[in-house]
Amino acid sequence: MEDINKELEDKSPQDVLGYAFKKFSNIAISFSGAEDVALVDMAIRINPSVSIFILDTGRLHAETHIFIEQVRKHYCVNIEVLFPDTNQLQKLVSEKGFFSFYEDGHKECCSVRKVEPLKKKLSTLDAWVTGQRRDQNPNTRMHIPLVQKDSQFSFGDNDLIKFNPLATWSSSRVWEYIRSENVPYNPLHDKGFISLGCEPCTKPVGPNQHEREGRWWWEQSEKKECGLHLENVND
Ligand code: ADX
Ligand code: SF4
Repeated sequence: MEDINKELEDKSPQDVLGYAFKKFSNIAISFSGAEDVALVDMAIRINPSVSIFILDTGRLHAETHIFIEQVRKHYCVNIEVLFPDTNQLQKLVSEKGFFSFYEDGHKECCSVRKVEPLKKKLSTLDAWVTGQRRDQNPNTRMHIPLVQKDSQFSFGDNDLIKFNPLATWSSSRVWEYIRSENVPYNPLHDKGFISLGCEPCTKPVGPNQHEREGRWWWEQSEKKECGLHLENVND
């Protein structure tokens, strides 16, 4: 893996995607509905029938749902929408209500609404592609590689491979791409949201705040990750 990363380090996200699609046919892009739309745009240009999925936690902004439909139409692609398990969700909400994360942290809710549905989906794939970047979180994402074995979601003898083609790009580089290529983007970005997640757990950031400060802002931990990319915290 080290050799491949060395080889890819200076390459463009498009080159990394090209490499990923050449190596794996059973691969999908995980799209959050935020500025990772740049990755979707790049991927579709290389592979128009690429698989894309989104985890609908049930708590996304209405704007994000509208944006997902816009992306579907704009690119004439299917976006598979993954939902939480009804029984797990029913149990969580009936026992703890809709806002338990403000009381006892986001982990339990993220586990039911995001991590478990992701785990189920990833068990059907050989590789997946994320929009993670090193500059998104100075505490946890500084060293994410372009390609890695997904130690969190590999089971048994099957190594799941995870590609992060935007890892070396900065936020401004991504936004340059979105603007220069006329890529549609989530209108919440024009309302001060930089990092985008679920509606109750994301807020716009103020001057000089890092984008990550708008996520789970009531929690003290420096290592804020929702659980989709836990190897960033464990490494
Ligand atoms: S998170 O772990 O804090 O929620 P973040 O919002 O930074 O992640 O997004 C990083 C990448 O994780 C996205 O580019 C996308 O690949 C994946 N991701 C995050 N949220 C979702 C989602 N709701 N559905 C699908 N993929 C997601
Ligand atoms: Fe639940 Fe918030 Fe996590 Fe969304 S980000 S799954 S609402 S804790």
